[in-house]
Parts: sequence; C-alpha cells; structure tokens
Amino acid sequence: MTPNPPRVDPALLPALRADLATSRYTVAGVTELLGPLATAALDRDQALPAQRVTASAGTTGATLVRLFALGDPVDVADVAAALPTLGVEGAVALGLVEPEGDAVVALCDLRPYAADGVDWWVASDLGEVATRRPLRENHVLGIGGASTTLASWTPRPHVDRALDLGTGSGVQALHLEGHADQVVVTDLSERALAFARFNAALDGADWDVRSGSMLDPVAGERFGLVVSNPPFVITPRSGAVPLFEYRDGGAAGDAVVRDLVRGVGRHLEPGGIAQFLGNWEVPRGSTWTERVGDWLEGTGLDAWVVQREVQDPAQYAETWARDGGHHPGTADFNGMYAAWLDDFEARDVEAIGFGVVTLHRPRTDRAVFVDLVDVPWPVESPMGPTVLAGLDARTWLAEHDDDAVLDIAWRCAPDVHEERHTVPGALDPTAIVLRQGGGLRVHLTLSTVTAAFASVCDGELTARAASAAIAGLLDLDDGEVRGEVVAFLRAAVKDGLVR
Ligand SMILES: C[S@@+](CC[C@H](N)C(=O)[O-])C[C@H]1O[C@@H](n2cnc3c(N)ncnc32)[C@H](O)[C@@H]1O
Repeated sequence: MTPNPPRVDPALLPALRADLATSRYTVAGVTELLGPLATAALDRDQALPAQRVTASAGTTGATLVRLFALGDPVDVADVAAALPTLGVEGAVALGLVEPEGDAVVALCDLRPYAADGVDWWVASDLGEVATRRPLRENHVLGIGGASTTLASWTPRPHVDRALDLGTGSGVQALHLEGHADQVVVTDLSERALAFARFNAALDGADWDVRSGSMLDPVAGERFGLVVSNPPFVITPRSGAVPLFEYRDGGAAGDAVVRDLVRGVGRHLEPGGIAQFLGNWEVPRGSTWTERVGDWLEGTGLDAWVVQREVQDPAQYAETWARDGGHHPGTADFNGMYAAWLDDFEARDVEAIGFGVVTLHRPRTDRAVFVDLVDVPWPVESPMGPTVLAGLDARTWLAEHDDDAVLDIAWRCAPDVHEERHTVPGALDPTAIVLRQGGGLRVHLTLSTVTAAFASVCDGELTARAASAAIAGLLDLDDGEVRGEVVAFLRAAVKDGLVR
C-alpha cells in the first residue's frame, strides 16, 4: 500500500524542526557525518557506504540518516533519542514514520537541503534506495539532479509574483521564497501538492498551492518569473511504459515542452522571465535549432536556449527505463527499451536533446532575440547570475544599433584569457582564442583584427577609435574593420567576455 503523504500539524512542526536542527540533520551536518565517499555514493543512489558510516557513528544525526534517507528500520529508542521534542508519537502523528516491531520505519524520505545559507528540509516519497523496488506511478520526487540543475540556472531578480509549475515536493518554490513576494505553485498530482504543503509548513513558507494541468491553474494571470522542471520525458504512448506522474505529462513526443514554449508567454509580465528544462526530438534530416526555432516562431518572446546534452534513441531509452527502478536485462526493462525504440522510429527521431530554455518578454516593441547554443561542457555553478547578466546583455544588444556598440569603450572581463596555439618552432600562431573562465565558459576564435581589438579592450578607447587605429596599423579598410569589430563585440558582450 502507498503510504499517505505526511500531515501538516502546526502544533508539531516546530518540534520536528527543532529536533532536526539539534541533531545537525542539515546539509553541512550530514555531509560532515558521511564524508565525501559516502555522500557521493548516496548521490548515485548507492546506500552501502552511508550504511557503513552511520552504523558505527552513534549520533542522533546518523539515526536520522538511517531512518529518513536510507529507509532502514531503526530501533525505537534511537528514534526517540533523535526526536526528543517531537517524540516517536509525534512523528507517527505527522505520518512520517510507523512502528514495525521494536523498530520504527520511515513512510517518506526527509532530507536536508540548503541554498544561500538557508537550511530547509524536503519530504518526498521514499526512493528506490530505501524501498528496493521500482517506483510507483504516483511517486513524488525529492531533490534530484534535474531539480538542482534548474535551481542553479534560474535567474533570481526580485519579482512580485513567481510561479513554480509542476512543483512536486516544492524544491524550486523554496528557492523562489528568497526573491519573490508571492509564490504560486501548481501540480497535476494531488499527492505532490500534499508534500508541497507539508514542506512549505515545515520550512516556514507560504505558497499559493493550485491543482491542475500545466498552465490551466493560472489562466489569465501574469508573473515576473515562471520556473518549471516539467514532466518533459518523452514516453511511448503504447502502454508498455508506466505513466510516471513525476516525469511524464501524458503527451506524445516532445509536445509538453513545445506547448510550454508556445503558451508561457501569455503569463509573463513585460520584462518577465520563464525558465524550464526540456527534451526535444531531432527528426532525421533536421537540427535541434530548427525544431526549437519553429516552436518559438510567433511567440513574441526573446529566447536563449542552451542545449546541454544529446542522446541517441537507445541511450534515451536506457536512461529512462532505468530511472523508474528497473534493471537492464529484466523483461520489464527490455519491454520498455523496445517500446521507446519503436516510438522514436515511428517519428523518424535520430536524436534527443536536453537543455535549459530561458524566455523573456521584451518591455519595448522591438525585434526579439533568439539564441540557440550548444554548451555540452561543465559550466559555473550557480549559473543564475550569468543567465540574468546574459539576458540583460542580450536585451541591450537588441535595443542598440551598431553605432551605439562602437561608441562604447569596452573592457575584457577579468576571467577572460587569450590562448595562442602555435605549431612548435613557428613564429605565427595557427589560432588565437579568447576563453572565458566563468559563466558558460565559452570561447571565441579571433582573427588578426579581433585579436588586435581584444588587446586594447581595456576601457580606454571606444570601439570606434580602436577600429580606426587598427585599420591604420594593418592598412585595412576602416569600414571593414568596424564591421568585424562589431560582429566580435555582439558575440563577446552577450556572454560577458567583454563588458
Ligand atoms: C520532474 S518533476 C519536478 C518536481 C520539482 N519541481 C523539481 O524541480 O524537482 C515534474 C512535476 O510535474 C508534475 N506534473 C506531471 N504532469 C503534470 C501536468 N500535466 N501539469 C502539471 N504538473 C504536472 C509531476 O507531478 C511532478 O511533480
């Protein structure tokens, strides 16, 4: 039987909070307790190293890890010692645990989570590590890799109203608390919303919780920021793969993400930002930029889409057949694997892209910018400040003509370095590259002209004056040099290599 989500009892939650904090059941406390090896293994859903550490630690923090993160039965006296204010009875009353002989077992996962110096706790359904079974179709996800990716990438300006669409246990909404006056959360799953309500109450947050599909619960409303880790997993509709609510919006192909791209603009204030994760299919003979570019057509939104990963249909099927808790080689796994291959074949899909979509409603009546880029390498974390600065830079560039670009005395950012690639013994470099240390960690290949410009890009000369000097020095046409410099600046300024 699926246990019910925990209950909100305002009289008991302060006691739970106090006990969790006293036991140092916080991100810092648990990381210190487990050490790097067991922490990293647990992040990969491998419990054994954490079980070994906590079995001998003898602390109340270790008891809470065993109970709520590893799903182990724990002696009732140990649980009583770890929850002295709440008591075992209080934990039972909240629906967090139940007795099992002389032991107590957790009915949900409860983990510490932290950002920007704030400690939270997040309850969700027990995962595969704890239950040692495939996930149920109504499983409510805790904090996973996709949740932290989105949280890292989210730009965080102060906004009046923010929306977390498909909130699950409310991870994104916890982050929104710090910079939005009002936070609205939605989900199709009543079970997820019950977890979200519990977590909001436990963490002292006040969210407007709404039930319904995708944008339906916010019809006619606008926000300064919309974030979503939506149910974007492309799933065959043949019935061979269970409909896991936590990842599958029930549509065919990549329609969930397409519809969000097309529909979210109606819910953005002027200047408002929407950001979400997504998968997109790349049909044979096409490119991901064509596909996502088609979705964007006519939305009236600025778009900056970063493709982070590409899988072929088999890799995609393996990832998601395993994700539900099924193991390679079993009949269930193979059945799902085949169904995914059939589904992609039916639409002639050659590859599946994954990335971060950031959309922005312009404040003025101007042409939108559309920037679709591949960034498969590791980037800075958090990425939110880079995304916010990148949106500002792209907006400025969209609102200013080339003359305005040339009238500024630009400066290379402090994290930018020039690399010269030279064949051993040769005098002249074969390539000169400007490489960014932080942010997206992008690089630009320089020509003789743009290398000369970069070398004087220190805030002293306007780009116009520097171009004229370079044209004179290299005996080139002034207008052509200006053109090359402007093209370089537009590429460098948008990602913050030059400011
Ligand atoms: C991948 S989880 C994201 C959970 C959480 N926001 C995070 O970042 O970890 C996707 C969420 O979307 C919800 N969902 C599924 N179908 C939906 C739909 N049609 N409309 C709204 N939410 C939906 C699921 O219940 C689940 O909570």
